[in-house]
Amino acid sequence: MKSVYLLLLCFGLPFVLASSYCTGSFKPTTSICKKFQFNKLKSAGHCTDSKKKTSGAFKGLKLSNCTTFYDISKLPNQSMDAHSTKMAELITNVFENGNTKMGYAAIEKLGDCRGYTGGYIGFTTGTNDAYAVVKEYVKRSPKSNLKKFLPELKRLTTFLFGDPKRDDVSRLAGFPKAWKSATCNDPVFIQTQLDVGEAMYMKPALKYAASVGVKSNLGKAIFYDTIVQHGWQYVEPSINLPRILLLTGKRKTNESEKSYLTRFLTTRRQLMCCYPGDVWNSSADRVADLQSLVNQWSKNQKLSKPVQLKIYGATVTGKENLLVDKQTCKNVTSKKAKSIPLPIPNTCPKK
Ligand SMILES: *[C@@H]1O[C@H](CO)[C@@H](O)[C@H](O)[C@H]1NC(C)=O
Ligand SMILES: *[C@@H]1O[C@H](CO)[C@@H](O)[C@H](O)[C@H]1NC(C)=O
Ligand SMILES: *[C@@H]1O[C@H](CO)[C@@H](O)[C@H](O)[C@H]1NC(C)=O
Ligand SMILES: *[C@@H]1O[C@H](CO)[C@@H](O)[C@H](O)[C@H]1NC(C)=O
Ligand SMILES: *[C@@H]1O[C@H](CO)[C@@H](O)[C@H](O)[C@H]1NC(C)=O
Repeated sequence: MKSVYLLLLCFGLPFVLASSYCTGSFKPTTSICKKFQFNKLKSAGHCTDSKKKTSGAFKGLKLSNCTTFYDISKLPNQSMDAHSTKMAELITNVFENGNTKMGYAAIEKLGDCRGYTGGYIGFTTGTNDAYAVVKEYVKRSPKSNLKKFLPELKRLTTFLFGDPKRDDVSRLAGFPKAWKSATCNDPVFIQTQLDVGEAMYMKPALKYAASVGVKSNLGKAIFYDTIVQHGWQYVEPSINLPRILLLTGKRKTNESEKSYLTRFLTTRRQLMCCYPGDVWNSSADRVADLQSLVNQWSKNQKLSKPVQLKIYGATVTGKENLLVDKQTCKNVTSKKAKSIPLPIPNTCPKK
């Protein structure tokens, strides 16, 4: 998860962006925020906060099995056509990287306790997914410079979620440079990012959407964007997609998909606005853009026409080149790597 707003803040542009998307029915009042119970959070998600004496605060998150993900094998399957999949990936890229140029090479330490955040959907060294990307990539390109970071990336996955040790990048000197260089010089790295993103986020998003009868392309894209930002790991129970589903409540009898998605996005935006600190609330604008798309349901539900993200100032047409990073890489080749589809990463090895 990465926030363009946060990046802009670093460049000193807060005045331009001062309008808040946490007002009205999204104002973090006691009555709106009560349902999230964030007052019971063990750490407020800030490294500075966690440096306070918090003895015992990080206990109790021991893994009870070999994965940090829920078992979703019983959720129904559904798929999405290639054009709409691309639209969904581009929409989320706009929120993560600010425009429709795919941010494969982007890599930054954001100060959100997740270590480095890199790539088109913000894989992070602090939540295991950057490790998954690099591990898969090194399998495909064994000579890569990223290989030497594998032991440290693996070590970071051994800490409990919420432990500030996951934010540590002191033993990852040179990692951002190697990440950028792999992106700009090896199409295999870009394809690996896409393949891991599809297995870890797109496929699960489609299952979760199917579980509540969300079948429109726009609805699927919204679930994808949500799962990319909030995750579906049981070790992050206060902010993940299953929590948003639970708090949204069941789809009512005969409730339209538009109405359900409206309630879903309302919960999501309220969660962001209620979460302590300014990392989550600053991306409430992303949900506001998605809400506008839902409001124009008949125009947007199929994702067959260009989609306008007004707050982010971008139009997604589906004709963009998904396989290059024109933002960072000067060396854009037309070489493509073969896609190797990966399974949803929640299966334990057979005993
Ligand atoms: C692993 O264990 C957790 C906690 O008991 C559970 O929620 C999750 O669904 C399990 N995941 C798998 C893939 O079995
Ligand atoms: C989903 O598809 C997979 C692979 O084809 C299959 O093994 C699984 O049983 C399906 N799950 C459900 C719930 O239909
Ligand atoms: C540009 O990328 C190609 C392959 O994608 C690579 O072979 C070449 O070395 C790169 N050129 C530069 C200047 O980095
Ligand atoms: C749901 O829709 C069906 C078909 O349109 C209708 O027969 C039924 O009465 C509706 N149920 C409710 C609770 O509105
Ligand atoms: C986000 O929260 C911080 C800290 O509580 C607050 O100062 C800031 O104004 C909030 N931002 C928005 C967009 O609501």
